[in-house]
Amino acid sequence: MKRPTLRYGVATSAFQVEGAPEADGRGPSTWDEFCARPGAIRDGSDARTACDSYHRFDEDLLQLVDLGVDAYRFSIAWPRVQPTGRGLVNTRGLDYYDGVVDGLLLEGIEPFPTLFHWDLPLPLEEAGGWSARDTALRFVDYAVAVVDRLGDRVSTWATLNEPWCTALLGWASGVFPPGRREPARAWDCAHHLLLGHALGAAAVRAARPGSEVGLVVNLTTVRREQDGDPCAVDVVDAWQNRLWLDALGKGSYPEVLGEPAALRDGDLATIRGSVDWLGINYYTPFRIGAPSEEPAGVGQDVDAYPGAPPFSFRPRGPLTTMGWEVDPQGLVDTLQETAARLPGVPLRVTENGGAFDDDADRVGYLSSHLAALEACDVTVLDYFAWSLLDNFEWAEGWTQRFGLVAVDRTTLQRRPKPSFAWYAEHIAAQRGP
Ligand code: FCB
Repeated sequence: MKRPTLRYGVATSAFQVEGAPEADGRGPSTWDEFCARPGAIRDGSDARTACDSYHRFDEDLLQLVDLGVDAYRFSIAWPRVQPTGRGLVNTRGLDYYDGVVDGLLLEGIEPFPTLFHWDLPLPLEEAGGWSARDTALRFVDYAVAVVDRLGDRVSTWATLNEPWCTALLGWASGVFPPGRREPARAWDCAHHLLLGHALGAAAVRAARPGSEVGLVVNLTTVRREQDGDPCAVDVVDAWQNRLWLDALGKGSYPEVLGEPAALRDGDLATIRGSVDWLGINYYTPFRIGAPSEEPAGVGQDVDAYPGAPPFSFRPRGPLTTMGWEVDPQGLVDTLQETAARLPGVPLRVTENGGAFDDDADRVGYLSSHLAALEACDVTVLDYFAWSLLDNFEWAEGWTQRFGLVAVDRTTLQRRPKPSFAWYAEHIAAQRGP
C-alpha cells in the first residue's frame, strides 16, 4: 500500500493566543481565575491580551498563507460557546470560529480544531470540574453545539488536548488549575476526561456522519537511568502513556494504577475503540533516576505520578528553556511504541517544537525532529509545529518562546523569525515543483 504523504501544519490554542476574555459574551474560564491567583504564574502575567488573535485572525491568516501549511490546528474556547458551560449557546462566540474556518478554507488551508484545550468554563470547575461525571456530559452538549455550526465545513475533530495535564497537573501536583493536590480525584478526572472524549466523539459522529474524531495525548518514551527504580519507570509510563492507550485499545486500565473510584460498569466499553485517529504531542523523552535535587524540566513533577516509588527526572543537555531535553530519536521511539500499543490507529504528530531564546536553536530542533520523523518507519498523517506565535505558556506565563512568529507585546505586531522561513522552505521542498 502506498504510504500517505505527510502533511504539514502549525498549532495554537484559544487561551494562549486569543485574548479578549469578555468579548461577545465569553464567560470566565478556570485559567482566567488561576492567572489571578498570586504566585500561580511564574512571571505574574496573564492572557487577557495574549496575541489578540480574537481581533487579529486576519493577520494570523496572512502568516499561515506565507508559511504554506496544509492545515492549521487551533482550539475552540468552550466559554465563548457556552459562557457558563451549560445551556444556551452563545452564537456570537461561534461567529468568531465561523470566520476562522471560512478564512482558512478560502486559502486552501484545512481547519483542524480541538474542542477542549484546557479552558474549562469556570462554573463547571466550581461544580467539581473533571472530577465530576457531569462535566463529561456537559462536554457532549458543547461538542454537538460546535459541530452543528461548523460540521458542514470541518470533518476532522480533536476532542481533548492532553488530558494528562488537566487531570494530573491540575489535581495531583496542582501546578495547573484547579491547583489541587488530591491524587485519588486526579484519577477520577483522567477517567471522566476519557469518558467525555468517547461520548463526545460518538455524538460528533452521530451529528455529522463521516467525521473523523481523535484524541490528542502527550505521550513520551520513558528511559531508565542506571540508578532508576524500574518500578518508578513502570508507574510513570503507566500514567503518561498506557493509561490512555490501554483504555482506547483494550478497554482496560494498567494494573499498576488500580482503578479510579469513579469507574462504572460499561464505561471502559464506551472508551474502547473511540478514536478514529490519535494525536501525539511530543517534546522530550523522560529519563528516570534515583531521587535527586537536580532541577527537572517544566511539568516534570514527581507528584504528578501518584503511587510511584521515589524517583527524579534527569533531563540531559542540550535543553530548551523549558528544561526539556532535545532528542529527535525520542520522537521516533514514542511513535514506534505507540504504534505497537495501539495497532491500526492512524497517528498524527499534533504538537512538536522547542522554546528557545535563540531562534537558530529552534531551527535545529525542528529540522532534526522532522528529519527523524520523515525517515522513520511509522506512518504519520500530519505534523504540526508548536507554535505559529510566541504565546502565553500557561504557568510559565510569557517566559517561554515557542513561536515561528514573534509578537510584540505592546504593538501586537507579528514578525516572522528565521525559523518561519526555514519551515516554509521545508514544506515547499517536500511538495516538490
Ligand atoms: C503542550 C500544550 C501546548 C503548549 C506546549 C508547549 O503541553 O498542549 O498548549 O503549551 O505544551
